[in-house]
Amino acid sequence: MTDTTTMTGTTMTDPATTPRNTVTDIAGTGLAGLDARNVSAWFSGHKVLERVSLQMEPGKVTALIGPSGCGKSTFLRILNRMHEMVKGAQLAGQVLLGDEDIYHPGARPAEIRRRVGMVFQKPNPFPAMSIYDNVASGLKLSGIKVADTDTLVETSLRRAGLWREVQSRLKSPGGALSGGQQQRLCIARALAVSPDVLLMDEPCSALDPTSTRRIEETIGELEDQVTIVIVTHNMQQAQRVSGNCAFFLAAENTPGSIVESGPTRQLFDSPVDPRTADYVHGRFG
Ligand SMILES: Nc1ncnc2c1ncn2[C@@H]1O[C@H](COP(=O)(O)OP(=O)(O)OP(=O)(O)O)[C@@H](O)[C@H]1O
Ligand SMILES: [Mg+2]
Repeated sequence: MTDTTTMTGTTMTDPATTPRNTVTDIAGTGLAGLDARNVSAWFSGHKVLERVSLQMEPGKVTALIGPSGCGKSTFLRILNRMHEMVKGAQLAGQVLLGDEDIYHPGARPAEIRRRVGMVFQKPNPFPAMSIYDNVASGLKLSGIKVADTDTLVETSLRRAGLWREVQSRLKSPGGALSGGQQQRLCIARALAVSPDVLLMDEPCSALDPTSTRRIEETIGELEDQVTIVIVTHNMQQAQRVSGNCAFFLAAENTPGSIVESGPTRQLFDSPVDPRTADYVHGRFG
């Protein structure tokens, strides 16, 4: 296992001691899961995550919950190599995508980010670009050539639950859609490059209840096709959409860590740790 005594800005792994048969394809789905092992993180030497280990099963939805500032977004960014893009950010530990170490020296960050897509809190389509071009935009960036872009755009919009609403105005700008539609456009854009995993950082927190319901339906429809990790402050949402759940907490002046993780129902109905019970019942945070 990896640890850090010197912070280098990337993980240090020892391939000889790296187990390589964890969460890949356990359900025979052909999908890749994520396996984070002893992940710690710093910003400019200040430790914000302490030895977080979590298996995110392939083809399942894993919800990350916990109070503000406990490191959920930081953890998410570590899962697709975005953390290292933040100035002064360091990390230690290991993240496996299927059986591949995403911080292996031979791993290409751009390819990891294609395979592990991200949807953010605030919908961020290219506002002046057409709906069609928004969906297709990741292809060029990822260097992916497809024989039939029209079909891929349609399929991606269908998977994101947006096709029926936009099929007659694919040339309209992405910025002309409602907030909820823009978020589904961002999901379509992420899906177009065939990711194994979709990371969603509070994807509904800027949306109205109806749009939130549509995104949750979309998550349910995607569940079998892609591994999903979602951060949410909404306890009802965590219970509606996720099969597994991890509760993060940062006690005063200490880095964030996982208090408890497991099947969502268990975390909510019979949590092992009293802090989990207090949090999921809204007694703090
Ligand atoms: N770019 C940054 N530079 C310095 N510190 C940062 C940076 N981003 C986050 N942090 C710090 O890291 C810790 C974890 O932040 P993070 O955003 O991961 O928490 P979070 O659980 O996602 O919170 P929220 O629920 O409010 O989104 C916090 O103490 C935060 O101040
Ligand atoms: Mg956050």
